[in-house]
Order: sequence, then structure tokens, then C-alpha cells
Amino acid sequence: MSSKGSSKSKAFQAPRGTRDFYPREMALRRHVETCWRDASINWGFQEIEGPTFEHLDLYTVKSGPGIVSELFSFERSGGDTSYAMRPEFTPTLARMAVARGNALPVPTKWFSIPCLFRAERPQRGRLREHVQWNVDILGLSDADTDAELISVAVAALDRLGLDPSMVQVKYSHRDVVARLLTDLGVTSEHLSAAFDLLDRRDKLPADAFMEKATALGLDDAAVDRFDKLAHARTKAGEDPSTLADVPAEDLDHLLELDKALKHHDIAEWCHVDLGIVRGLAYYTGTVFEIHETSGAERAIAGGGRYDHLVELFGGPSTPACGFGMGDVVLSLVLQDRGLIDPDTLGPRPDVFVVCADDAARDHIVPTVARMRHAGLHARRSYKSTRNVGKLLKEAGQHDARIAIILGGELQEGIVSVKDLGSGDQQQVQLTELETAVHQLLMAP
Ligand code: HAM
Repeated sequence: MSSKGSSKSKAFQAPRGTRDFYPREMALRRHVETCWRDASINWGFQEIEGPTFEHLDLYTVKSGPGIVSELFSFERSGGDTSYAMRPEFTPTLARMAVARGNALPVPTKWFSIPCLFRAERPQRGRLREHVQWNVDILGLSDADTDAELISVAVAALDRLGLDPSMVQVKYSHRDVVARLLTDLGVTSEHLSAAFDLLDRRDKLPADAFMEKATALGLDDAAVDRFDKLAHARTKAGEDPSTLADVPAEDLDHLLELDKALKHHDIAEWCHVDLGIVRGLAYYTGTVFEIHETSGAERAIAGGGRYDHLVELFGGPSTPACGFGMGDVVLSLVLQDRGLIDPDTLGPRPDVFVVCADDAARDHIVPTVARMRHAGLHARRSYKSTRNVGKLLKEAGQHDARIAIILGGELQEGIVSVKDLGSGDQQQVQLTELETAVHQLLMAP
């Protein structure tokens, strides 16, 4: 095929790493988003949104180098300003907070459900466009705030049918890890390289990990302890002071968070994992990720404290903490666990109107219109047949609750109403149709 031909056929395919949402996929996406939104509102967060693209500088100036290489950036034809599709929401949120300055209430509790764009190599769990639930609290710096955020994430997972045997929150604290690394002999200039290494520990073969640890200037014994540190974790709900080889006085922040997680009644979902440091450059204190327990999938969510970002963007000193939960890995986990059947997720029609008699044909549109004006989800058959069985089968395929059958009795002002759950069928006066349908829908 000529290059012209192949680029033409490519133009008619969705770009790599993007998704088309047909009704089934859209129903699943809305189901996940509804659980996210309901949990946010239940926990007292307010929804915000920002632009889908920002000035490129918003990312290049302040974000870590990891995110910069993953941007979709562009200039307007004839323009000289560089923009980027948003790869994450946190810089937008910080920019919006700065614009409000000291007028922001304390705390400010915001959530959003943006589409994000990252120019990465598409693979299982990683796409170039995904939907990410962001939840953030600005203005508070205590462990209870961090625990409140973890608890709203857990609440959404719980609503989606997941439990602590399926997913777990792994948390750590950058200050605690920094202190432990310093105790091992990592100098301040190597600290960020050591964090990077911890972040990539599971992606590296053991010998490459050891080699990089040695390059940090550590002797054999220290490298060994570094490896232990990277894999140090508690069991869910277990006190962090049980962590082997870690001096209790170094664990203060983790002990505080542990206490707060218990107050929020979510300790059984959470455990300490000192290998969690998070790749993004702006995190300062508590960091956490949510993973499927088998460890086979990438992280479902990640977040932490970023106490300096708002100030870095020119705002007042503002402690902040938050997380992002993507729809891609989450949907894979839900499907693998058999927790969702996209076929049953879409909105279910209250009524399905069918016409089984040619003489009644003119009544189908007015009847559907009446049902819709009565606030009901009404669909109709567009088929022309007198075969009631066939028409009812179609109503069943739409998963409708009630079928309204317009037949020969319409001349006497009578229609049949069939409860498709129980199979009961009754005849009602056309004038009383709304009342009859509402009664059936209200019936237990
Ligand atoms: P992040 O770890 O880059 O954090 O992303 C959070 C979650 O979004 C990931 O755990 C993953 O589930 C999902 N995700 C990220 N990139 C992709 C991708 N390319 N394809 C599919 N899913 C993806 C952040 O973005 C931080 N800004 C979160 C945050 C909010 N921190 C504080 N507030």
C-alpha cells in the first residue's frame, strides 16, 4: 500500500492509545464516575474543572522531568505561544488556587474528573488518554487530612464492590524514607536519585537494582539494607512500629497516619510500604498508591502531600494533599474480578411502547411523548408487526420494566400494560395510563 493510502486508512482509526466509548463502554465509564462523584460529595468535596490544555510552561517550569517527556504539546497555526494538553490535573488545581489567593477557604476540598493526555507508549493499563478522578485538600497539613483523602478513595472502591482482599492502599512518608536513606549513608545530593531508584524497584532486575544502589556511594552492607528498605512493608492494619530494622523514633509520621487511618476505620485496607515514594517531583510528605493485591496490574491510584506547589506557582504558603485515580486500571480490575457486567449498567427504560395493531399506529408517538413528559424513561419499538411475542421480546432486550401494548382495544380507549418482571398484564383506560404505570413502578 502506498504511504498516502496507509496514512489515509490510519486517519479513519482512533489514534493509538485512545478509546472509543460505545454505549456499553460508556455505561461502565459512567458507573465508575458516578461512584467517584457520589463518594466525593458524601465526603464533603466540591467539584471543579479547568481547561483541557494549559500553557506549556505550567508543566515545563514546575513538574518533574518524567512528566515533561510525556506531553502532547502544540502551537496555534501562526501563533507563537506553546500549549500542552493536560497530562495531570494537579498543576491546573494549583494554578486555580493561586488565582484565588488568600480568599480560599481553609480547608478547600475539591474534586474533579478530567480527561488527561500523556504521550506514552500504550500498554495494558497505560493509554494516551484517560479519565482520572482527582481529590485534593488545601490548607491543612495534619495526618488526619491525609487519612481523610485515603478514606474517600477507599469509599469509592467499596461502592464499586472491591474489598481489602482485592485492593490495598500502600503508604509511606518521604521524610521517613529520607531519614532512613541518610542513616544508610546516602548524601543529600544523591537523595533524589535514591528516591527514583526506590520508585522503580519493581521494574528493575535485582542485579540492576543493586548496581544502581552501589552507584549511590553505598557499601555492600548498606546496599543490602537499602534493598531491605525498598521491600519493607507491614501487613494490612498492622502497626508500623513492627517494621523490621527501622528505628521506632524514625517512624513518627507513619505512626500518626496509622492512628488517623484507624479513626477513619479503614486500617484493614492499608499498609506501610517504604518502597512507595512516587515519581512526581512535587511530593513532600505522605505518599500512597492503591494496587490490586496480586500486584499484576499497575497502580489504580496514586497521591500524596505537596506542601510547596501552590507557593512555587506564586501563591501563599499552602499545605496540600491529594490523589488521582485513573479509570483504565480500575476498569480492568473490576472486570477481572467479575464485579461489573457492562450490559446491565446502562440506564434501564421504565416503559417500552409497542404497537400491535395497524389502527393504533398513530397513537404510538403521542403515547411515548406522554410518558416522557411524565418524567419517565420511555423507548418504543420502530418495528411494524402484529406479533406481540416479537415486540415483547424486543422490550426484554431493552431491559424495560413495563411494556405498553397498543392494540385493537384502543378504539374503546383501552391499552394493555405488562409488568415485564412479574409477567402480570392488565388493561387500563388510556386516560389513566400515567397513574397505572407509576403504580407499577412503585410496587415492591
Ligand atoms: P499519577 O500517579 O501520575 O498521579 O496518576 C494517578 C493514576 O492515574 C495512576 O495510578 C493511574 O491509575 C492513572 N494513570 C496515570 N497515567 C495513566 C495513563 N497514561 N493511562 C492510564 N491511566 C493512567 C498524578 O497524576 C497526580 N497528579 C495525582 C495527584 C492529585 N496528586 C495529588 N493530587
